[in-house]
Amino acid sequence: MKMTVRDIRDSKQNGKKLTMLTAYDATMASLFSQCDIDMLLVGDSLGMVMLGREATVSVTMEEMIHHTRAVRRGAPEAFIVTDMPYGSYEITSRQAVENGVRLLKEAECDMVKVEGGRVICDTVRRMTDAGVPVMGHIGLTPQTASQLGGFKVQGKDLESAQQLVDDAKSLQSAGASCVLMECVPSALAALITDVLHVPTIGIGAGVHCGGQVLVGQDMLGMFEKFSPKFVKHYCKLAPLIKKGVSDYCAEVRSGQFPSEEQSFASEPDIYKQIKL
Ligand code: KIV
Repeated sequence: MKMTVRDIRDSKQNGKKLTMLTAYDATMASLFSQCDIDMLLVGDSLGMVMLGREATVSVTMEEMIHHTRAVRRGAPEAFIVTDMPYGSYEITSRQAVENGVRLLKEAECDMVKVEGGRVICDTVRRMTDAGVPVMGHIGLTPQTASQLGGFKVQGKDLESAQQLVDDAKSLQSAGASCVLMECVPSALAALITDVLHVPTIGIGAGVHCGGQVLVGQDMLGMFEKFSPKFVKHYCKLAPLIKKGVSDYCAEVRSGQFPSEEQSFASEPDIYKQIKL
């Protein structure tokens, strides 16, 4: 049965761990949704994973809508969270509400995710008051990673740890249904998870979070160039894909593919009458 916002909020009290993976297209969304996953995240990481860009900053609302629609078509019953891309919610609260509503109505997601803590809480309040369910994202926030000194673990000293606790509590007070923490030491993530009544979702934030998220292509082992410490490869698709493609190329070149099995038969003599 499809998850609801209430199910997500209640998961903490029910002691249920939430599972989430990124998906950006209909094929993957369909496969993932057949595996008892709670939520699919159309992350703005699609800018890097799907579109080959260096960062997420340039991702647009139109791109998020395009990919979320594809995910919705592939997984009609899934609970879909869509990232609000950089520049779509920071300028005014009105802009954030309008774009949040657009994602719900045009892209048919169930919840939106925004990066930032206390500084965006007024905006989150306006969005949730307008009926847009929100997931907060704190810790390493890729849209502003450069200001954080790059892709680094956050909250390692007392001051920044206190700020993360305050960010999480403020997001909850503003009506966020869930708080995602990225690259936060496990002990701090555990403290934040305990102090909140809404669930936390971790990526590089240890086992004590209320749920976990990974980029689908990462956990399936589709990237070979680098792998963040927090990624576990549940299978290694890259070598399988490369072997399949190399075998295909070799068989085309040698004439082994297509064989009779992949070809269409006809009456043997019928084409003799064709005038060439
Ligand atoms: O965009 C994304 O994929 C994300 C995850 C890394 C949590 O925000």
